[in-house]
Amino acid sequence: MLSRPSGGLLHVVIFMLAPSLLLGLGCRVPPPVIPQTVDDATYAKLRADVTALTVPHCGSCHDKNLPTAKPEALAIFDYTVEDWPMMLKEEQITTFQRRLGSTLDHAGDAKVAKLFGAVLGKKEAPP
Ligand code: HEC
Repeated sequence: MLSRPSGGLLHVVIFMLAPSLLLGLGCRVPPPVIPQTVDDATYAKLRADVTALTVPHCGSCHDKNLPTAKPEALAIFDYTVEDWPMMLKEEQITTFQRRLGSTLDHAGDAKVAKLFGAVLGKKEAPP
């Protein structure tokens, strides 16, 4: 595991248990976003996966290359910026999940949560 030594195992347990608990309740609450450190290759893969999953739903306004893009949306995040997830403020991550709603399947939701957990890990990391 590349997560921090302290509480690392607990994080993993929560990360694995929480979605299944919520699933059991039939709840649409998105999986928790848990700050964690991932290596660059894992991060790049997660980002590519989440980009591919969400562009079809969110790209029309959040992709600068499209004529339908909205300046207010691009200011929040823009898929043409390579590291677009880092553009989001911490509180906007919850909104990101909420606006996605039930668009993705549970595996997709888990990838979104994992990506933004890694984003939080990067934001917290000392420069
Ligand atoms: C029809 C255009 C449009 C689409 C499609 C769209 N957005 Fe946005 N989005 C906007 C605009 C405009 C804003 C800025 C104003 C606002 O907060 O609504 C925004 C803002 C946001 C914010 C920041 C909200 C805040 O509280 O600061 C998030 C997060 C976000 N969008 C996520 C998404 C996600 C995820 C999708 C796909 C499921 C999506 N958007 C699809 C237009 C869009």
